[in-house]
Amino acid sequence: MSEIVKIIVEGKEFEFPLITGTEGEKAIDISKLRELTGLITLDIGYKNTGATTSAITFLDGEKGILQHRGYAIEDLAEHASFLEVSYLLLNGNLPNATEFQNFEHAISEHTLANEGLEAMFRAFPTGSHAMGQLSSMIAALGLYYPKALNPHRTEEAINRTTIRLMAKMPTICAMIFKKRNGHPMVYPRNSLGYVENYLNMTFGQVTKPDFEVDPILINAMNKLLILHADHEQNCSASTVRMVGSSQSNLYSSISAGISGLWGPLHGGANQEVLDMLEQIEVDGGNVQKWIDKAKDKNDTFRLMGFGHRVYKNFDPRAKIIKKACNEVLNKLGKSDPILDIAKKLEETALSDPYFIERKLFPNVDFYSGIIYRAMGFPPDFFTVLFSMGRLPGWISQWQEMRREKQPIARPRQIYTGQTYRVFVPMKDRP
Ligand code: CMC
Repeated sequence: MSEIVKIIVEGKEFEFPLITGTEGEKAIDISKLRELTGLITLDIGYKNTGATTSAITFLDGEKGILQHRGYAIEDLAEHASFLEVSYLLLNGNLPNATEFQNFEHAISEHTLANEGLEAMFRAFPTGSHAMGQLSSMIAALGLYYPKALNPHRTEEAINRTTIRLMAKMPTICAMIFKKRNGHPMVYPRNSLGYVENYLNMTFGQVTKPDFEVDPILINAMNKLLILHADHEQNCSASTVRMVGSSQSNLYSSISAGISGLWGPLHGGANQEVLDMLEQIEVDGGNVQKWIDKAKDKNDTFRLMGFGHRVYKNFDPRAKIIKKACNEVLNKLGKSDPILDIAKKLEETALSDPYFIERKLFPNVDFYSGIIYRAMGFPPDFFTVLFSMGRLPGWISQWQEMRREKQPIARPRQIYTGQTYRVFVPMKDRP
């Protein structure tokens, strides 16, 4: 027997189905609420609102669980490659050897980005933020494939766009990196693996054809990309789905997702964390002073890389990244005073009642920037790397929304403005 929830409105009882997900989480299905009662719900920031059902990622914020298509993030980060995880997200299952080979081969065939895109760098102001460039470049990339703009594409055409985006994203990210340094582009080498190829385009030089990427960097980058690959209905994924729900094309939907991710409360936090740690260092390393600032309600400062809308115990990605951060720095033989400040900050915050009561823990962005910095990336590039990792997640979310033929997303509102007023011509206004 299906469960129901009763809602009483002005003495009249209405029944709504209670739906249960495969992991036991429950929701009241209010899709008929307005039709039956004339009411809508108000939930600013969607803190209690499920915008969709989804079979991609399961997250239990209280228990600190994150699973993609049923596989634990800990297992994926330990044993899989980023491309394997991408296949999993996009197709629902882990690939067998042949499926993986075909996927990898298809991607390696599409790594070149049209040279015309280079012209965009002449228009970007010097020093402009890498995320603004990335969002513009991905929107522009779509213009080279006008057929992909057709909302009634076949599955085959959508798969082609998926492969193109997966293949060209690292090339475009490397292009942004090279252009800001004023260096010539290193072209993709399709014999290299996905991550190695990206790092080769980024850190290789046209004048050094023998350059080889350090395997420590390849492993670290693989892990970081996996940890960012999807995170269910967050701000950027919801943006991708919302833009896509108007039947806008995949390129523009991903470009919008990149813009959503850019904000400091979302993916942009990784850059903010590093800026914050550097500020604390310059300020003499007085961690308590900054904790007090974060607690002060008259101060707008927040401890960046701390807190999460959904995780209220720990962020499983942060645990893995913290361990990886120590490993990478050790292996690279680098010590970073910023890491010591980060550890002290974490320790102090975790024993402070303000953070304990509000269930504020380090999130994925707290330690990732320290690894990126050790690898040689500048802070405003950190969120670009997050975007590269998140790409298969965004595409999977977009594809799921489309395959399920979900309607255009169109929230309602409660109007709080002026009620009707008689129009007064300008000559008669006081
Ligand atoms: N530093 C100090 N206080 C905080 C922080 C923080 N980082 N985060 C939340 N709080 C306080 C907040 O002031 C509020 O206190 P009170 O109840 O006294 O008003 C309480 O904790 C609840 O905060 P909230 O803003 O209502 O929580 P939220 O769910 O709307 O926001 C968040 C979640 C991630 C935006 C927020 O914790 C934050 O701003 N964190 C810093 C930015 C950050 O690290 N973002 C990366 C998120 S993980 C990467 C990703 O997937 O996007």
